[in-house]
Amino acid sequence: MRDPDENGWVSSALAWIDGVGDDGDFSRQHVLDKPMLDRIREFMPITALDVGCGEGRFCRKLEKLDVKTFGVDPVDTMIDAAREKHPDGRYTVGFAEELPFEDSAFDLVVSYLSLIDIDQLENAVREMSRVLKPGGRLLVANLSSFATSSSVVGRRYCKDTGEELRPLGLYLEEGKHWFEWSGLRVQNWHRPLSRYMKTFLANDLTLTHFDEPEPTSGLESRIKAYERMPYLMMMEWQKR
Ligand SMILES: C[S@@+](CC[C@H](N)C(=O)[O-])C[C@H]1O[C@@H](n2cnc3c(N)ncnc32)[C@H](O)[C@@H]1O
Repeated sequence: MRDPDENGWVSSALAWIDGVGDDGDFSRQHVLDKPMLDRIREFMPITALDVGCGEGRFCRKLEKLDVKTFGVDPVDTMIDAAREKHPDGRYTVGFAEELPFEDSAFDLVVSYLSLIDIDQLENAVREMSRVLKPGGRLLVANLSSFATSSSVVGRRYCKDTGEELRPLGLYLEEGKHWFEWSGLRVQNWHRPLSRYMKTFLANDLTLTHFDEPEPTSGLESRIKAYERMPYLMMMEWQKR
């Protein structure tokens, strides 16, 4: 039996639920939501699955677009909160690596900042592809591999100017690391971009969109930080 707290998400769930709100954090509110929803509006799926849905924030956004949305997450506390916030929603406890859904069940599968938390990348992507209908889309938002590599090193500051620098760690070395912020303590994976790309390519998926989105609003200092490196990446893959 797998322990859903192996990466800290059970112990951190209440802090996450308290902090995320309906708009989400900076990355969600000012960077990702708009381009993610734009892609979805472009092909208007009838059914969708949000893998690692947390407390269901993005599922609620999809339902507002009239997409019949299912959310899955291994942490009971997240699923309980999702059901409480959206009593008509469809939320299920489960791991990405063993999705409790039939083959070809969905037009759209979303992974919104959850791949960095998922331990068995190959199994999870194989499952995401399995539950997609042929022609369906897999829409992924993830921390960029530059960002996860530099997070392992931590913040550094220029001696002369005090400017924040973001040096890379051992970029090609994959690994998971503990991070703490705002009452959360979770493990996130750093994986080189090639590792993600090869895994999608090996699972009957064709790349239809790629972006390193920048903030469209928000604090000037946060926007400025994106000049140094892309913090996020977005990909859309089509099931063959
Ligand atoms: C950073 S949160 C993102 C939640 C949501 N997608 C959002 O953007 O608000 C990561 C989520 O991944 C979930 N998670 C961790 N391991 C997972 C796994 N093996 N399969 C599916 N979800 C997982 C966690 O429980 C957590 O809810």
